[in-house]
Amino acid sequence: MNDASFLSGLAQAVGADALITDPARTAPMLRDHRELYRGHALAVVAPPDIAAVSRLLAHCNQHRIGVVPQGGNTGYCGGATPDASSSQVLLSLARLNRVRAIDVANYTLTAEAGCILADVQKAAASADRYLPLSLGSEGSCMLGGNLSTNAGGLNVIHYGMARELVLGLEVVLADGSVLDVLTGLRKDNTGYDIKSLFLGAEGTLGVITAACLKLHPALRSHATAFVAVTGPEAAVSMLGALRSASGDSVTSFELIPRIGVDLTVKHIPGVSDPLSMPSAWYVLCELSSSRIGDPLGEVLQDTLESALKEGWITDAAVAQNERERGAFWRLRESIPEAQRMDGASLKHDISVPVSQVPRFIEVAGAWVAQHVPQGVLVAYGHLGDGNLHFNINQRAGTQPAQLQAVEPELKRAIHDLVRDFGGSFSAEHGIGQLKVFELERYANPVELELMKRVKKAFDPNNIMNPGKVVRI
Ligand code: FAD
Ligand code: MLT
Ligand code: ZN
Repeated sequence: MNDASFLSGLAQAVGADALITDPARTAPMLRDHRELYRGHALAVVAPPDIAAVSRLLAHCNQHRIGVVPQGGNTGYCGGATPDASSSQVLLSLARLNRVRAIDVANYTLTAEAGCILADVQKAAASADRYLPLSLGSEGSCMLGGNLSTNAGGLNVIHYGMARELVLGLEVVLADGSVLDVLTGLRKDNTGYDIKSLFLGAEGTLGVITAACLKLHPALRSHATAFVAVTGPEAAVSMLGALRSASGDSVTSFELIPRIGVDLTVKHIPGVSDPLSMPSAWYVLCELSSSRIGDPLGEVLQDTLESALKEGWITDAAVAQNERERGAFWRLRESIPEAQRMDGASLKHDISVPVSQVPRFIEVAGAWVAQHVPQGVLVAYGHLGDGNLHFNINQRAGTQPAQLQAVEPELKRAIHDLVRDFGGSFSAEHGIGQLKVFELERYANPVELELMKRVKKAFDPNNIMNPGKVVRI
């Protein structure tokens, strides 16, 4: 079959208006957020409903044409970008954007894959419920992308990763059949948990079209502080103390280096340093509760005073109102954008046990200082989850190419070290096309073999996002 007849079959399957041909619209969809990859597609399609997705996959499967699902295209590993062969179909889920139902008594919300995450959060809030998945990209990433990457973000310490928020799924499989396990059940031990395989599969096993999500009580009290800590070790000590003192109400615990403050103050309008004296390290921590008047502020204040006596911290600003709280969060959430505006960067999304983070920073930081003089370490992230964005930025006065030249050696050193610490080379951003070789290198061989068998069982013709995550 030639391209023309495949495309006319495709148009029939999805409706001619689902094909996007305007280069002004397709160009941003064919490159990834970090601009590491540029793809070329045989067609770019945005089907209007599940039935059209099903017909599209059946048609592509019949003709062995690869399909690359895409949500908000904010992923960091090139998972939503087709290859350069012009032989794959880019499938945008953006038109599947309905919140289908909210079951207030069951604390669940059912929404389609193309819903923007912030809109799903708002829908939950409108029913006096809380969807805890929260990331800096929430204004543009989509639910299907969040679940397919098993996104982490800012509240994992308390609520877990995206996977832990999913009760049911609707998925279109490679052959076009629809797996409807869109239940809102909290208990269901009826055999293998097949749906969990799609969470974090990055579109390699099927297309998620809708999900039933677990909600939580709406939050009514917060206590938020921006704290100057004497180092990562002290930050870990403070985390332990705060978890115990607050009855485990810590919903975020983010580590921020001085350069994170400098970059955001420099590049992001409206961001200012919350404290008067500079410190090498900071923590942005938040306690939250669904009870009005919960004495979270007192607990936080007491812990900060103890931490000062222990020598863990030197200063702290406690948010007095929503505006100040928002300003702290704006600083934290703008770090990736400020980093991007400051020049080239090499990213490592790593995790180690929380207790090991300080030692990791010390050892890996020393390696970078010795071997990468053209780079500056920007290590920040979700300390409460043991997840660091161990990024290296281009040093002022150097060229991007000078930093990029060291990328293979740097990546190997950091990821080998992560392995030695019993950690993960991809904590929350996934594999995509960026880390396929890393997975082959570091995965447990038995686990990797099982992944390949699962891939073959779900997608025998290898049409679902071929070349991403695992190669078969
Ligand atoms: P896309 O980029 O469109 O796709 C991601 C992957 O999922 C691709 O492999 C794609 O093929 C697949 N996919 C998309 N939709 C579907 C579907 N419906 N069915 C099957 N497969 C699908 N990530 C974190 O985990 N934590 C963070 O704190 C975080 N912060 C970020 C901050 C910023 C400023 C930015 C730009 C990104 C951040 N990210 C973070 C990364 C990114 O936003 C997440 O990975 C997000 O979950 C991706 O969603 P998306 O809709 O953009 O997915
Ligand atoms: C974050 O936590 O800000 C992101 O996951 C990291 C990034 O955007 O680089
Ligand atoms: Zn992150």
